[in-house]
Amino acid sequence: MKYNFDQIIDRLNTDCSKWANVESIFTDKDVLPLWIADMDFPIAQPITKALKKRADHEIYGYTRPSKALIEAIINRMQKKYNWAIKPEWIVFTPGVIPAINAAIKAFSNHGDEVIIQGPVYPPFWSAITNNGCHIVNNQLKLNNGRYKINFTGLENIINPAISIKPSSSRVKMMILCNPHNPVGRVWTREDLVKIGEIITKNNLIMVSDEIHCEILFKGSKHIPFASITEEFAKHSIICMAPSKTFNLAGLGASSIIIPDKELRDSFNASRAGFIPQPNVFGLIAMEAAYLYGDEWLVQLLDYLQNNLEYLLNFFKQRIPNIKVIKPEGTYLVWLDCRELEVDPIALNIFMKENARVGLMDGYLFGPSGAGFQRLNIACPRAILEEALKRIEEAVNKL
Ligand SMILES: Cc1ncc(COP(=O)(O)O)c(C=O)c1O
Repeated sequence: MKYNFDQIIDRLNTDCSKWANVESIFTDKDVLPLWIADMDFPIAQPITKALKKRADHEIYGYTRPSKALIEAIINRMQKKYNWAIKPEWIVFTPGVIPAINAAIKAFSNHGDEVIIQGPVYPPFWSAITNNGCHIVNNQLKLNNGRYKINFTGLENIINPAISIKPSSSRVKMMILCNPHNPVGRVWTREDLVKIGEIITKNNLIMVSDEIHCEILFKGSKHIPFASITEEFAKHSIICMAPSKTFNLAGLGASSIIIPDKELRDSFNASRAGFIPQPNVFGLIAMEAAYLYGDEWLVQLLDYLQNNLEYLLNFFKQRIPNIKVIKPEGTYLVWLDCRELEVDPIALNIFMKENARVGLMDGYLFGPSGAGFQRLNIACPRAILEEALKRIEEAVNKL
């Protein structure tokens, strides 16, 4: 069927986080929220149908992942990435962030160090400190409008030339974001091989958050970190979910793929008693999405591609002093607003109060995010057009 992504659906009064903040925080209710990473689009019809059918059964007792769901995940990995995974590798959790927390708890001791690459998704930072570890920020380098990994920095963090630390490194793990929220990079095979060699050589654990892996723009290809070599797989915890791809974040269901039995057992021991299985509706939605959601997904990606192209042209022609970091994946666009010369501390307030557009403040993604804002383009075109017009008007008045 043909889906209508132009349709504007009123999300006010649904308590959805994206729009509820507008209702509760601002005196001016006319702020367009383009912050949190969910979409203002209705989901694929087969998912709604499956959820309604299950709801009609009227008994919602403890429920395990179905065989059909496990097969659907295995087939998806094979078809999309030529990655043969085994059923026992899949661990289900009600979200990727709980899984990342469980992994840090499982594989580190208090005082250990965990590598992330800022600017990056804020809950990575808190997951590390909340579990008593130290953040080591191997900041991404911005080069001609494109972010790159600092491989020398990565090596130096793990094996510093001069060290005041005890001889054994306290770096235990790295959390990779691929595709990278907020800068939109889809890391290449070459990038992943280089990282993987560093990880395996130093016997670190790689937690690869691949939640955005199916939202790709033209020309991009996602490669699961663990699919590259068996050795990489042995060090990997791969976090996937249908939540970003199929707009199911409120249903809390993700699949964490851990090929190595020892790692998997430690992970499961760490999550026991804290992190349950996804609930019955999360599991049903995941199964329907992976089995029957692709017709919708193809149309969604086309719509997002057009929204991105519209936005790129708009900024280029009408707000040239905001530079867009062109994303390769994710529906999140990272805006370099440093030329506006607005104090980075006041930039997000400027967007909310002067432009009446709610964006994610770059600063939340780490110190190198100062002067940047993140804009979510997963909304009907009319909302995007209005938001960009508002930013243009506010910038022109500066
Ligand atoms: C990179 C990344 N990881 C994880 C999440 C959230 O995952 P979950 O809701 O499954 O905990 C998000 C949400 O925006 C994200 O961008």
